[in-house]
Amino acid sequence: MKKYLFFIIIIGVVLVVSCSKNTDVTVNTSNTIDTPATPFNLIAPFGFPPIIIPNNNKMTVEGIALGRKLFYDPMLSLDNSQSCGSCHNQRFAFTDSTLQFSKGITGEIGTRNAMPIMNLAWERKFFWDGGAATLEDQVIGPITNPIEMHETLNNVLSKLNKHNEYPRLFKRAFGTDSITTQLLMKAVAQFERTIISANSKYDKYVRGEAELTFDELKGKELYEDQKKGDCFHCHVLGSTFTDFDFRNNGLDSIFTDLGRYKNTLKETDKGKFKTPSLRNIELTAPYMHDGRFKTLDEVLEHYNSGFKVTSQNLAADIALAEKGRLSNEEKQQIIAFLKTLTDTEFINNPNFKKP
Ligand code: HEC
Ligand code: HEC
Repeated sequence: MKKYLFFIIIIGVVLVVSCSKNTDVTVNTSNTIDTPATPFNLIAPFGFPPIIIPNNNKMTVEGIALGRKLFYDPMLSLDNSQSCGSCHNQRFAFTDSTLQFSKGITGEIGTRNAMPIMNLAWERKFFWDGGAATLEDQVIGPITNPIEMHETLNNVLSKLNKHNEYPRLFKRAFGTDSITTQLLMKAVAQFERTIISANSKYDKYVRGEAELTFDELKGKELYEDQKKGDCFHCHVLGSTFTDFDFRNNGLDSIFTDLGRYKNTLKETDKGKFKTPSLRNIELTAPYMHDGRFKTLDEVLEHYNSGFKVTSQNLAADIALAEKGRLSNEEKQQIIAFLKTLTDTEFINNPNFKKP
């Protein structure tokens, strides 16, 4: 009788222990793994157009944090030495320091100047030639490019899937710990969309919080004057400072880089490149798709007198411009205006730093 009682007690204890274990596991799961990710509402700053987020990649707090970790993780490169952040440095508005061409992991250099990462939530095509149609698609390019991170997607996925943190972080962000290329692209794009610059001196001026100096105001007038700077047609004054279009601004009469044509194979696209935003332009030297100009003075002289009228597909605004129309003083005033687009809060924003 005593024996049976003993067994019943043992069974009872085992049941209680296993039940409480089970409840523990369930509690854990619901608190840290199965809770849906927290929706994140990305709000357009004052004066900017609304932001359209793709339906298949709604932003979440967890998705953005994961994208940020991936952006700064050298694991995405073949020898674990280079991250997106290696070439896109916040201090230089996410361009590659003052380098004309970035170095890949093998030390090989590319042929194009690294672009800033900012206000991409409004952009329609990515890369100088618009080679990526969405911000999600763009993520794969640098990882697999042999002169950049030189890694295969299979390797990246296998490294991530074996990692001691990533499967859990993907599960938190996307509800699955099976990491795919699609999810990697989505996470990085979510982080990239948050990288917004909208608090320069110019923005403060627009909001009535700061005043521009005489020269800055004069520069703004020249920027908008069709007979003078005439910059605003392409670098649209206001919020994004670009028309999102592809243009030939007359750099060459013989093209070494065919630009937009590489993707469309249209004769009318030869020599056209994406109109870059001019925000933070003071910080992103050298300039143009091939970084040929070291200073803003050189850029202004290009638009004043350097543009090649014989360049195929030259933009009409530039073809019609009179050479030598800007005095030295006027060029300096336009530069003074451009410098009001520098956003020091942006380059110090802790949310964009390496986590
Ligand atoms: C070796 C340096 C290097 C690395 C590493 C690198 N990039 Fe870039 N990035 C560039 C260059 C150069 C360009 C311009 C390329 C072109 O237009 O052909 C560019 C362009 C871009 C653009 C286009 C911006 C626009 O306005 O169209 C985005 C976005 C971008 N990179 C994000 C990333 C992400 C995300 C990673 C990591 C997965 C990354 N980059 C890794 C050098 C680099
Ligand atoms: C017809 C459209 C057009 C006009 C007008 C125009 N730009 Fe541009 N701008 C572009 C394009 C396109 C590029 C990129 C060209 C390239 O790299 O091949 C560019 C590049 C630049 C760059 C280099 C940006 C970078 O990130 O490297 C600066 C600075 C610039 N423009 C300033 C100006 C100023 C100042 C004016 C007026 C004096 C002006 N632009 C007028 C279309 C234009």
